[in-house]
Order: sequence, then C-alpha cells, then structure tokens
Amino acid sequence: MIIKEVKARKILNSRKEPAIEVIINNKYSASTPSGASTGTHEVKAFTKDVNDSCFYINHKATLKGLKFETFDDLEQIDSLLPKIGGNAVLAIQYAILREMSNNEVWKFLNPHSRSIPMPLGNVIGGGKHTKKRSTSIQEFLLMPRAMSIRDNIAVMRHVHEKAAKELKLKEMTDEGAWISSLSDTEVLEYLHKTLSNVENTMGIKVNFGIDMASSSFWDGKYYVYKNIVKDKGAKLNMAQQIEFVNKIVKDHFLCYVEDPLNEEDFDGFSRIKKTTLVCGDDLVTTNMERLKQAIKSKSINCMIIKPNQIGSIIQTRKVVDFAKANDIITVISHRSGETMDTMIADLAVAWEIPYIKTGIHGKERECKLQRLADIEGIMHG
Ligand code: PGA
Ligand code: ZN
Repeated sequence: MIIKEVKARKILNSRKEPAIEVIINNKYSASTPSGASTGTHEVKAFTKDVNDSCFYINHKATLKGLKFETFDDLEQIDSLLPKIGGNAVLAIQYAILREMSNNEVWKFLNPHSRSIPMPLGNVIGGGKHTKKRSTSIQEFLLMPRAMSIRDNIAVMRHVHEKAAKELKLKEMTDEGAWISSLSDTEVLEYLHKTLSNVENTMGIKVNFGIDMASSSFWDGKYYVYKNIVKDKGAKLNMAQQIEFVNKIVKDHFLCYVEDPLNEEDFDGFSRIKKTTLVCGDDLVTTNMERLKQAIKSKSINCMIIKPNQIGSIIQTRKVVDFAKANDIITVISHRSGETMDTMIADLAVAWEIPYIKTGIHGKERECKLQRLADIEGIMHG
C-alpha cells in the first residue's frame, strides 16, 4: 500500500481524556489508549499534547508517498517518535497495518495461527484506578481456563455479576472492575471461596491473580496499605512485602502476581517464589534493556506487553520475540484509559501470546473480547 492521505484527530478515551485517532487513505483507522498507573520508564504518549501531535502529522510529517508491503516496513514510522510521541506513532502504524491486511491483521501476520489467548479479567479493583475508598491492590484478575474464548467470556461475566450482587457493589473503576471497601485480604478470601463454587456450578475452572501495581503505594521506604486486613492499614518494608506476597500466593493459590514490588526493585522481584506467574509491568515497560536486566536478575517469569509503553509496533515485536526465546510468558494488555481499537486482540493471535488482559466490562473492553470471539469463529469455520 501507498500512503496517499493521512488524517489525525483528537478523540476521547474511556476516561474522557484526549486520545489520538489516525485515518489512512480515508478508510483505515486506529486509536491508542493511555494509562493511569504509568511506569516511569515508558515513552511519552505525546511529545507535547494530542493537538500538537495531530498538527504535526497533518501538516508537517512527510508521510504521503511512503510504501508499505511487509510488517517490517512499518519501521519507517519509528523515527517520528521524538516529534509526536509513542501513542501517535502506534496509531499510524496500526492504521497502515489495517490497510495492508484489509482489516484482518492476525491473518496477514500469521495465517497459520490457531492461538487464541486466555483472558485475564479485572473483576474487583482499586489503587490508582479510582479516587474512592478501595483496595490498595489495583486489580483482582480472573483467569478462566475453558477451551474457548466464548466460554471464558461467559464465565468472567457471570463472576463479575455475582460479585456485585453478593458484595452489594455499585461503583466501578476506570477499567470496569467493582470498587469494594473490603480490605485487600477480605477480597482475596472472597474470590478464593467464590471461584471454587463457580467451578462446581459452571464446570469451568477459574483461577485468579492480582496486579498489585505496587509502585503506586510505595513511598520510597514502605508499601503503605490503607486497608490490608479488616479496617487495618499497614506499612510494610521490602522484606515484609515479599513475605506478604509469598504468603497470599500460597494461601489463595494465586496463579498470577503483577508488579508485587516497586518498579526499580529487580532484586525484590527475584525473591518472589516462582511457583506462580511473577509478572513485570512497570518493572519492564515493554523495554528491551529492562527485560534483559529482569532476565539476568531472575526477577520475572512473565511480562506485560503494552505497545504504547515503548511507542512502536516494531520494537514491541522484538520484545515479544526476546521474551519468548527466554521462556518469559507474555501477557498483552489494555490500558485503563481505553479506546474502541481492537488491535491488541489481533496481535495476541498473530504473535501467539498466551494471555490477554483486557477487562470484562465496558464497551472499550468488550470489543476486544468480541474481536477474539470473531477470530475464533473464523478459525473454526
Ligand atoms: P494503567 O494500568 O493502564 O493505568 O497503567 C494498568 C496496569 O497497571 O496494568
Ligand atoms: Zn500493571
């Protein structure tokens, strides 16, 4: 394909923050999300702001006439990063990829893939994803284990509704998870018990895990919990935090723990027992150098892939390949401020990424799950 026309404009994401949408050749569009608990080592979403990046793309960038035939050709856009920021680069690359593939990105990139990722669904949440009284742990995540994405979506919805009814919850975080005034430990106990019942009634095993996003409650010396056990806060130092995490993993059979230590603590991560998936998000920020450091220090066995943390689909692909070559499980992820773009679903299938974290509730989350269900339908004819 050849770029004949590029339009960039400001839209609003699910948090009503400015986001960018790019339309290529009047037909193929893409948009990109933004985080709230962003890692220090992420690239900037926009060098100055959305309007400035749109102006640059519409009036200054010399994109017209550029040719794209293969995925690797998208590297031509990477050099715009210092001018427009990661979210703008990615939106351009996604839109071009849509035209190259006639909107079937996964098939264009990997026609033989039969790999639909398992979803990780945020059912109860807090931390930086709400201003209300909530848990310090940012996300309590369902990991359903049915064979089909349709069954996995159905069981996640069921648990999401059940939790609201049983705990009488009415308000949601930015990501459509329920906000609870229970303590962190009480929520763990509730899910532990409930998910065993769900397995008995629905016949689908549902494991669970957490994203602690612990940089958001690390004050430089302590992990400061507002409500760790019933109506009691706590300040844990690094050693106590490690002990606490290892204990809850064991007591509640957690299959996944994301960012249990702050984003600079490669050593602390290495002391979390790898009897569970120990996942780096803010620790690694989809960055090759940080991934190498995490592997060297045995910090993680799992990592989050968020393309806009590194601001290039080409660099993202390199990180995914390197993680796989080093036996690091990958989890491609949405951001808390999402758009209706479904590219991460296609990339999960194309790159055979085993997990996708994309929430349960809200149209910006559900569209990505629906895209996976549609792909599953196409695969099975
Ligand atoms: P964010 O959070 O999108 O607000 O950065 C999601 C996460 O920490 O996984
Ligand atoms: Zn995270």
